[in-house]
Order: sequence, then structure tokens, then C-alpha cells
Amino acid sequence: MPNEITRISELKNNVDQIRTIGGWVYHSRPGGKVIFLVVRDGSGLCQCVIEKEKISEELFAQLKKLGTESSLTITGLVKKDDRSVGGYELAVSDAKVLCESVDYPITPKQHGIDFLQKNRHLHLRSQTPWCIGKIRHTLVNAIRQFFNDNGFTLIDTPILTGIIGEEAGSLFNVDYFGDTAFMTQTGQLHLECAALSYGKVYCFGPTFRAEKSKTRRHLTEFWMVEPEVAFIDLPGLLEIAENFVSFIVQKVLRDNRAELETLGANIAALEKITPPFYRLTYTQASEILTSKKTQDFLANQLNEFKAAKQEIENKIVALETEAKDAVKQWRQDKIASELIDLRSELAELETKIENNPKHAKLAAEFQWGKDLGGSDETIISLMHDKPIFVTHYPREAKAFYMKQDDENPKVVRNFDMLAPLGFGEIIGGSMREDSLDNLMDKIKEHGYKLENYQWYLDLRRYGSVPHGGFGLGVERTLAWLTGEKHIRQCIAFPRMMDKILL
Ligand code: 4AD
Repeated sequence: MPNEITRISELKNNVDQIRTIGGWVYHSRPGGKVIFLVVRDGSGLCQCVIEKEKISEELFAQLKKLGTESSLTITGLVKKDDRSVGGYELAVSDAKVLCESVDYPITPKQHGIDFLQKNRHLHLRSQTPWCIGKIRHTLVNAIRQFFNDNGFTLIDTPILTGIIGEEAGSLFNVDYFGDTAFMTQTGQLHLECAALSYGKVYCFGPTFRAEKSKTRRHLTEFWMVEPEVAFIDLPGLLEIAENFVSFIVQKVLRDNRAELETLGANIAALEKITPPFYRLTYTQASEILTSKKTQDFLANQLNEFKAAKQEIENKIVALETEAKDAVKQWRQDKIASELIDLRSELAELETKIENNPKHAKLAAEFQWGKDLGGSDETIISLMHDKPIFVTHYPREAKAFYMKQDDENPKVVRNFDMLAPLGFGEIIGGSMREDSLDNLMDKIKEHGYKLENYQWYLDLRRYGSVPHGGFGLGVERTLAWLTGEKHIRQCIAFPRMMDKILL
């Protein structure tokens, strides 16, 4: 059977031919004499027009009661029709139902995020996760292509490790034949060994952080790509990072415009993502946070949120009034679905209105020395239309391996890249401490055992060179590109603090 199946995306090459597609019922509009069945097959959607007189009575009756997500093969004449979803229709002459699906749990109405997570095994078939998955596919390919085309060698770093890569507070421990091993938090330390072998390397794999936070930016298992380069300086690293991010954004724009449109992504904003990006030091960022300009900006925003809230409330009242008088069922349904969307927008605005003064206070009271918090990053990023590099953070706020700045030992030569328009951090990176003595001091300062780091210290004993790199989180980047509010929608099977259900 598989050889006889034509993918919906290929129908354009099969016009006026009899073809069979295999897929699942996406939507059905059954009538007495004709059924309009929209079928999805993973490559697209196709409207299948089933006329009673063209097939047997039994088959017509069977197709008429097919529920959402029933699987079938369906045969007919391929016709071009611009009004039809996907642009091609099937004038059906035969069909074979494979599995009738009754009471499919996911319906067109809006479900809560918890319900959808519980039903993730089915939800993956819905349009939003499908589009996000397609974009993720392009993103992952673009990431590999950028590094492969720019002289980097892929190194697969281990998932089980013996040392702390980032911070002790978010380690997953594994019983490793009676010893404790950790799930890797970063491939960086191992990658540094490889950088001194190949010069330019990258690793790309899953990383683990036992983050006890349920924010929309955190997963406990996420994918990170990390390049590492020998003989480089901080400006050189920033240049790679901005070329890299511009490249992957342009790739997604080119290959996934339709998916971005379906998701309602901000395409115009993405089109602006070209080098150079903005560059701020941490000190400049902290001055922005405490400035009057920022307080005014946030006060302005609050007024905008309140006005938008008022507008939505008015729309809701108007629709509710209209619903009382609407006679036609289709109009009732449409109003109901519009109300669901408006109420969810309203809830979002209410959260923003609640958070705005808290974030304004945090920003006003920001003190030099603290790491930038999520809301601080959001504020800086809201004020820019392209990604922003924030460099030279205070030493105490950052990981042990970051290189101390020669001119100002209070700061390190590092950077975070913040995605613009309120999204926040997608990359963290730095030059690495290449002096043996400084590195030993840092390891001790952090309370880590020197003996565990002997192999890492050897890199500073035998042919140490200036080197550095960065890590980009795939799910955070995907959430930014797609405009998806919650990072857990950006991986097929998210892992968070909640119980693992599947
Ligand atoms: O800033 P981070 O912690 O940097 C490192 O791990 C470095 N060792 C990378 C390097 O220099 N080679 O993490 C880098 C990126 C973040 O900017 C973010 O995109 C993502 O990884 N990330 C997370 N994504 C989802 N959930 C989490 N809990 C994340 N923690 C970090």
C-alpha cells in the first residue's frame, strides 16, 4: 500500500490524475448528498469531496460519521482549486477506513495548557505543535549548516559527567555503579579539550538542569548548541554569534514562512535580524534599568495595557449582547470562539498589568553586582528591536570558568545575547579563564574539589591559549522565532518540574 500513497504536498504534481492519499480526518462537514472531508497527512491538508452518487451507499454512510483523527486512505481525481485549503481537492471515488476514532479528546475549542500537556501524545498532531515542529526542524538543520560551513568540527560531548559544569544548585545526580555522576549541564568543559585539538568545534545535544522553577523560560531537559574557538577574543565571539543568529533566522524565514504566518509570528520583526546587533556592557544595562527613561517607558506601557484591556472588555460586552440575539448556529459558534480568544487575551493583559509595577520596582532598585533577572532582561529587550549583547558581568554573578577582565578584575569577559522586543536571553557565552592560577582560585572560591578538575586544569598547563565560546538554547530560540509564549511548546516531549507523564 505505501507505494501507492501520494503525499498531499505532492498533489500539485498530479493534477487530473487519480491518486490515493493516506491520512487522518482533520475536519468533516457531512451533508445528505455530499461530504466535505478535510484530511491531513503530515505534509498538508486536502479537502476531499465525497458525492453520494459516486460511491457505494455503505461507504458513504461510513465516511459520513467518521470522527476527527479517524485514519483512512482515500482515492480520487486531483483537481486544482484555489479556494480549497492547500489549493488542491480530491473528487473522491473510493476510500478505506483504517481506524475509526470516536470522541477524540482534543476539540477545536480552546483547551488549557495542562490538558494539552496531558494529551501531548495526541496534541502533537494539532496545527500549532505541528508548525512549531517544522520550524524546529529547519532551525536544527540551519544550526548544523552554519557551523559545518564555517570550519567547525562536530564533537559529541558526554551526557554523564563527573564534574559540575555550571552550578551545583541545578544538578541531576545519577547512581553510577555506586558512584555519583551528573547529567551534563553543558558540553563546554569537554568541548574546550577538543578546541585545543581542532581549533574550532561545536557540540549539539540535550542538556539538563534541575531548575526548581516553573517559569515559561525553563525546561529541565533542553537542547543546546555550543561552539568553542581557540585563538579568539570577545569581539570575535560576538561577531560569530551575530552572524550565526542572523543566519538561522533568515533560514527559518525562507523555509517556514507559511508556518510562521499560521502561528501569528512577528515576521516583520524577524526580517530586521541582521548584523550588527546592539552592544551594551552590564554596567550600561544596569544604568538603563535604574534610569528615569526606563521608568517612563514602563509607565507608558502600563497605560497602553490598561487601554487595551478596556478595548477588549468593550468587545466582549458587545459580542455577548450579539450572542443573545444571534439566530444562526454558525454565528453563535463564531461568537463563542471569538469570546474564548478575547478572554485569553484579557487574562494575559491582566497578568501584564499586575507584573508591570513589580518589574518597574525591581528595575529601579537594581544594584550593581546582581545577575540580571528575567524581568530585567525583558525590560532591556523590550527597548530594542534587534538582539542585544550584554557584556562584562560582575565576576560574582557568573560561572567559575569565565575569564576575568584584565582592565577591570571585578568583571568577566562574557556576554549574554537577549532576543529583542521583550523575549530575553537566548545565548550565554564567555572567554574562558586560561591562566592556571586564576582558574584554580576560582574553582576553590566556588567550593568545588580541585582534584575533580585536574584534566580541565591540564588544558591550562599544556599549551593554554585564549579561547571562548557560547551556548544557544534551541527551545528558547524557537519560542522567540514563533512568538510562542511557553517554551514547553517548543519541544515534542517537554520535561519540567512536573511529573513525567510520557
Ligand atoms: O547561559 P548558559 O547557562 O550557558 C552555558 O551553559 C555555557 N556553558 C554555554 C557555553 O558558553 N558553551 O546557557 C546557555 C543557553 C541560555 O542562553 C538559554 O538559551 C539556554 O541555554 N538555557 C535554557 N533553556 C531552557 N531551559 C533552561 N533551564 C535553560 N538554561 C539555559
